[in-house]
Order: sequence, then structure tokens, then C-alpha cells
Amino acid sequence: MDHAVNAIQASSRSDFYAALHRQLAAVLEGERDWICNLAQTSALLMQLMPGLNWAGFYLLRSGELVLGPFQGKVACVRIKLGRGVCGTAAARRETVVVPDVHQFPGHIACDSASNSEIVVPLLHQGRLLGVLDLDSPQLGRFDADDARGLEEVARRLVAASDVA
Ligand code: SME
Repeated sequence: MDHAVNAIQASSRSDFYAALHRQLAAVLEGERDWICNLAQTSALLMQLMPGLNWAGFYLLRSGELVLGPFQGKVACVRIKLGRGVCGTAAARRETVVVPDVHQFPGHIACDSASNSEIVVPLLHQGRLLGVLDLDSPQLGRFDADDARGLEEVARRLVAASDVA
């Protein structure tokens, strides 16, 4: 089935995320394959969220994060837990918002255009599956509203999929 994705014009972050969550539900409806839904979600986020240069997933494989479906430039393939922004969010099982990646000790630079970043853990019944990672060339692109809105994206994505 084809899904039309419509640009979002919203007057607030909460309106933006309400519209994003509706479009995510439409894209995920009727399909439970995990890799397929990860791929579609990365494409949807890249298409609908302004100011991104990278949107994608790292998945937990044998105790480390391995690059999964994404949109953007070729990226680092393996990240150990506790390393970089992704490994920090995974180890803490908490969202990490980094307004300026150049100030984050241990930040792993995959695309030199990135200046800010948000990483949201993917959890299923308390088990860490991986992380959602978004990068932006804008300093301070992500805030607490983005953290809440993207945690809901992660929750919906996991609930809509047969996770591996
Ligand atoms: N910057 C991340 C690495 C992944 S790329 O941004 C796609 C980090 O520090 O973990």
C-alpha cells in the first residue's frame, strides 16, 4: 500500500508531534516487520522534521550497537555501550539531548555537518533494542519537547512491530 506523506504546518511543537504521530501510525499500519518499520520510520522523520542531516537507528547486537536502517550519509557502523551520544543513551536507557556536539566528551563524528543531536533508546518490556539517532547542522535543534515527541515515536514503532 502506498502512503502519502504530507508536510506538517504546525504552530507548536506539540501540534507538530501530534501530526507526526498520526502519519507514523498510517505508515506502520498493516506491517509488523521490524526492519521494514525501522526503515520507514527513518524515512518519515527525515521527510517531515525540518533541519535534519541524519535520521536512523543503531540496533543492539551481541552487546554493542550496530548501524541499522537510516537516511543520510554513510555512518559509523559499530558503537560500544557507553561510547558517544548513542552509546551513552543506550547505557543509561535514557534520551540524551546534545545542543552542541562539539562540547560532548566522546562524541563520535560521522558527518562533519552535524552540530546537535538527540538519541532516544528503543525499549521493549524493559529490554534495550537499540537507539533512534537524529542529527542536525543547527546548534540547539532539539529540546525537551522533541525528547517527549520522539520517545512517543519510539514507543509506537516498537509496539507496531514484531521486534527481533
Ligand atoms: N554522533 C553519534 C554517532 C552516530 S552518527 O551521529 C550517525 C554518537 O556520538 O554516538
